[in-house]
Amino acid sequence: MNKVQRVSSLRAAVQAAHKDKKTVGFVPTMGNLHEGHLALVRAAKLRADFVVVSIYVNPTQFGADEDLDNYPSTPDEDARLLAELGVDVLFLPEQATMYPGEISAQTVVYVPKIGDLYCGKNRPEHFYGVTTVVSRLFNMVQPDVAVFGKKDYQQLVIIKRMTEDLAYPIQVVGVDTVRNESGLALSSRNGYLTESQLKTGAKLQETLRWMQSELSEHKSVKSKAALARLEKQAKHRLKELGFEPQYINIVRQVDLMPAEKGDQSLVILAAAPLGKARLIDNLEVELAVDN
Ligand code: PAF
Repeated sequence: MNKVQRVSSLRAAVQAAHKDKKTVGFVPTMGNLHEGHLALVRAAKLRADFVVVSIYVNPTQFGADEDLDNYPSTPDEDARLLAELGVDVLFLPEQATMYPGEISAQTVVYVPKIGDLYCGKNRPEHFYGVTTVVSRLFNMVQPDVAVFGKKDYQQLVIIKRMTEDLAYPIQVVGVDTVRNESGLALSSRNGYLTESQLKTGAKLQETLRWMQSELSEHKSVKSKAALARLEKQAKHRLKELGFEPQYINIVRQVDLMPAEKGDQSLVILAAAPLGKARLIDNLEVELAVDN
């Protein structure tokens, strides 16, 4: 595995792969890799001949009171895991490469509307940072395929929108969430949970599954009022369990707008801090099929 820091070295490697008629897959990460990230790398390897992974903890997607300074970092172990999976290039850009000038004076990429909802409400600067850094990484790597986790469902939909709107010739692929044995979605921030919170954390997905079973009694959404009632009940359940739910919304998979009467392809999105970790999770629900 070739470890590179400079964009010129990255471009030389990717151009050589393209010259050899290889398709290039890309997995952007912030490091501290777990099985969820490794699933993204495996998915990239299935879809592309040459795989680039980046590790860069992007400061602009963290709020002032968030964990940028303490974000977990395991660079040697990350490099070992990626080499073992047969990654071709590990891109480790420095801050000056990603943000060469004064950050507040640099061009920002932002997806309006979807970016303002759900996590965008609780973390107003977050998606500005994500779309700005991902668009910059896309221009540096110039991949054919880019892979993101469905764990960050809103991020995935926003990046798909950005890719389409800015006409990037890149196929954006979403990969299913990897969970621990009790059902908690893997996340670098799960390390902030105590043993007992790790057990409680699994109840977030359990609650979404309960909502799915309630929804599945019908072939499509019956009314917005019924959805609002279900969202409220789920929030109440989570509060009783010790979460501090910020939102639970039943929305349309395609554009993440609130589900309406007659909709069938839904996703339930939730953010529910527990102790020192802000847990997010989601569940796709297809009402048209028998489930
Ligand atoms: O999902 C993440 O880890 C980050 O948001 C990403 C896509 C690497 C951008 O910094």
